[in-house]
Amino acid sequence: MSEIKVALLGFGTVGKGVYQVVQTHQKRLEAILHKKVRIVGILVQDETKQRDIQADILLSSNIEDILQISDLDIVMEAIVGVEPGYTYIRKAMERGLHVITANKELLAHKGYELKRKAQQHGVRLEYEAAVAGGIPIIRTLKHVLRVNETIKVEAILNGTSNFILSTMRENQAAFVDVLAVAQQKGYAEADPSNDIDGWDAFYKLMIISELLFGHQPAWDKVEVQGIRNIQYEHLLAAKSLDARMKHVATIEISGGKIHASVEPILIPKSHALYAVEGVNNAINVTGDVVGELSFQGPGAGALPTASAMLEDLISIYELKEVSSIPTAQTFVETNQLQEEEWLLVGSLDPVHQLHRLDQWEIPYGLSTITCTRVLANNELIKSIVKQCDQLEAFKMKHNFVSINQKVLA
Ligand SMILES: NC(=O)c1ccc[n+]([C@@H]2O[C@H](COP(=O)([O-])OP(=O)(O)OC[C@H]3O[C@@H](n4cnc5c(N)ncnc54)[C@H](OP(=O)(O)O)[C@@H]3O)[C@@H](O)[C@H]2O)c1
Repeated sequence: MSEIKVALLGFGTVGKGVYQVVQTHQKRLEAILHKKVRIVGILVQDETKQRDIQADILLSSNIEDILQISDLDIVMEAIVGVEPGYTYIRKAMERGLHVITANKELLAHKGYELKRKAQQHGVRLEYEAAVAGGIPIIRTLKHVLRVNETIKVEAILNGTSNFILSTMRENQAAFVDVLAVAQQKGYAEADPSNDIDGWDAFYKLMIISELLFGHQPAWDKVEVQGIRNIQYEHLLAAKSLDARMKHVATIEISGGKIHASVEPILIPKSHALYAVEGVNNAINVTGDVVGELSFQGPGAGALPTASAMLEDLISIYELKEVSSIPTAQTFVETNQLQEEEWLLVGSLDPVHQLHRLDQWEIPYGLSTITCTRVLANNELIKSIVKQCDQLEAFKMKHNFVSINQKVLA
């Protein structure tokens, strides 16, 4: 039986997961591809580390050694950061190799160039694992929803921040304490800023944008807000509306304009993202024909990520590359002056001229939390929150039908 020869660039959590699944699922791969899948080379940073790999695999810290392996077909890249992955992937493509990557930061920065490069060299670039780990969302958007124009994607794309928000709510705990638990469990890095400040979700959203619309919005036009400032009181305020606070990445087209954001928002009980808890990821896609579809599952981890990368490998041999469909819309980001509903938690100075919809108090210990629902634009809300130390504002993008009954009850 002939072989597909694969080199792994990176042998950490993801690289080892791919290595393991190639062994455990070899028979399935052979049955589908009618070829063996063989790992023939592994690139690492430190060759002296002890590794449990077969003796006939070339282990090197030099990319040239790996790319010179004869009859290599595919490189699977799972290194951290834009470089050296970008340079290595370019070199691989120049040698006619297909590339599968899990590296979201690299793709968000260089995806456009790499897609062009792949076209130029007649090779494939696949990246399912870079967005929402094991959930097959890229393939769905690329190969399954073709007639539909995707008009909105709303997603929980970072398992660490979702774990923190769920656990704070369940255990009535403070952010810093739950972050420490996430670090102990290995869900959060020693430096957790990429996850909790929203950058990891932002990179994934930019990859989705490029896939759907052929390009990304200007990065400085995307509202990116993390979860560092979330307190248990905010989660209680959400509960008073039968809602949960979720860290949501959104990209949507409306009126010919595209708006993208990553921020904590209130999700009502009726919405699919409400029930997404712990380290899970979830994606809600709205197609103009099909309506709303929801996908949920593991967004990271060795096996879910390996699953996505090996499904990519199969897709290279089984599925034709699809051309992206240019959107008719002019790519203009919405301005920040559009009015939206917000929940303000904390004392609001009465002098602020805001369009107040409701106000109510929630008992909390010996005191109360003031909640105010207002209609305002982003700029106004930001300037008010800046002036009031004890005030936080959260968007209410969804239809909270029961709000008046709930609040007035
Ligand atoms: N972990 C997940 O669940 C997950 C899920 C989806 C996507 N991803 C993405 O997948 C990528 C890999 O993540 P990971 O968690 O597997 O990372 P990791 O555990 O830190 O492993 C990184 C690997 O890259 C190697 N490496 C680092 N710098 C290198 C260099 N300059 N040259 C060659 N090799 C180098 C390291 O070599 P040594 O072994 O010698 O140190 C290590 O084997 C990242 O881009 C991440 O965002 C991860």
